[in-house]
Formats: sequence, structure tokens, C-alpha cells
Amino acid sequence: MHKINIAIDGPAGSGKSTVARKAAEQLFYLYLDTGAMYRFLTFRALREGIPEHDEEALLQLLTNIEFSLVNEGEKGVKLSVNGGPLGEGIRSQAVTEKVSAISAHEKIRKEMVTRQQQLAKEKGVVLDGRDIGTFVLPEAELKIYLYASVDERSRRRYLENLENHRPSDIDVIKEEITRRDHLDSTRQIAPLTQAKDAFPLDTTNLTIEEAVAHICHLAREKEKKGQ
Ligand code: CDP
Ligand code: CDP
Repeated sequence: MHKINIAIDGPAGSGKSTVARKAAEQLFYLYLDTGAMYRFLTFRALREGIPEHDEEALLQLLTNIEFSLVNEGEKGVKLSVNGGPLGEGIRSQAVTEKVSAISAHEKIRKEMVTRQQQLAKEKGVVLDGRDIGTFVLPEAELKIYLYASVDERSRRRYLENLENHRPSDIDVIKEEITRRDHLDSTRQIAPLTQAKDAFPLDTTNLTIEEAVAHICHLAREKEKKGQ
């Protein structure tokens, strides 16, 4: 049996991070949330007052940020920044509003992609994002494109907010998701798109467990074949 790398891409709320994390657990693989890296840079830029269009200042900021995968024992292997946690601030509304603009810069993407490739250089990693199957790991043995209707994705985010005691308006969420999908899929550099060799998986009517089982089944087939 040969470990493989798994690329999971798709729009906001399609279930990428939840499904990728669980699939990684079941396969005894590492999980890398590449969106969290872009979110952390955005979080720091907001804190330092760096405008979203100042690519050079953003790049400079990024050079002082070191991402790593740290083994936290029972909690598993976690993405860390300068040795510590990324923090809940990366999920804030302010970060969500700005992250697509900041991640559209060519130099920022180039640097992030290099780091993500470095973190996934050994086989046995599940990565999720927008450009994993197309740019970060074009040779990944298994590529999945997760999607779901925009209404279902908005409903999921709404319920997630409710669970985390962050009351929100479902219509506002839908607008935000639609805006971010548009920015992510129309940007010039590495836009969100389904890789030619990716399996499309519509999660609109799938439970998390069903989506995970499907991906793990495909992964085990690939592991057996060693390709
Ligand atoms: O909110 P959601 O979990 O869907 O997004 P995320 O995965 O946390 O990613 C946040 C944002 O980072 C996306 O909307 C993209 O603008 C950007 N991103 C990217 O450009 N490339 C990636 N590989 C991952 C995220
Ligand atoms: O990473 P991405 O933005 O693609 O989605 P996520 O953060 O993994 O999932 C958004 C929400 O949808 C989470 O609260 C998941 O638990 C939920 N979800 C779901 O209800 N059914 C699925 N098949 C996948 C995710």
C-alpha cells in the first residue's frame, strides 16, 4: 500500500475542511487547510493596517510568518504559525470580507503555493483550498471537486454560526458566499476551477459521513494501485 496525496477544492461552504479533516483522520494522513493560511495573512494585515492592494507590504508581512504542521499529541497534527495556534480571529467577518482580495495577488499566491508544496512534500497529506488540484499539487493522485447548491451552502454557514453563538442573517451569508465565489473563480491567477482529472462530488444531499466515505473509498483504491 502506497500513501498518496489528496487535493480537495471547491467553493465556500461545500464542506471541504470538515470532510478533508475527517478523511485525513480515517486514512491516518495529515491535513492541511490552505484557506487558513490565506486567512491568517489577512488577519495580520488587518491588525497591522496594511491595505489589501499593497502587495509588497503584504509579501513583507508574509516573510515574517512561518507555517508548520505541529504534532500536538492527542489533538493530532495541527497547522501552526510561528509555533502557536492560528486563533479564532481568522474566521471573523472582517477577515472573510477581505481574504479573497488579498489572496488574489500573484506574489502572495506564489509564496503560499511554495510553502504548501513544501508542507506536502511527503505523501499522505490531504489539502483543501481553491487551487490544490490545478496549481499546488497538479500531480496529486486523487483530486476531488466538492460542491453544493448556494442555498445549501448558505444554510450550513448559518447553522454553523448559530452553533458558535454568532447569530447571522441567511440572506447576508448567501450574498457574501456568492461574492467570494465570484472573486475566487474570476481572479487572474489560479482561479477556482475543477481540475480536468478531478472527481466532482455534489454534497448538497450528502451527509458529512457519506462524503468522507466516498473520498476514503477512492483513496484506498488509489493506494492499492500505488498511483
Ligand atoms: O470560508 P471557506 O472555508 O470556504 O474558505 P477558506 O478555505 O477558509 O478560504 C478563504 C479564502 O482564501 C477563499 O475564499 C480564497 O479567496 C482564499 N483561498 C485561495 O485563494 N486559495 C486556496 N488554496 C485556499 C483559499
Ligand atoms: O471548508 P468549506 O467552506 O468548504 O466548508 P466547511 O467549513 O467544511 O463546511 C461548512 C459547514 O457545513 C460545516 O458546519 C459542516 O459541518 C457543514 N457540512 C454539512 O452540513 N454537510 C456536508 N456534507 C458538509 C459540511
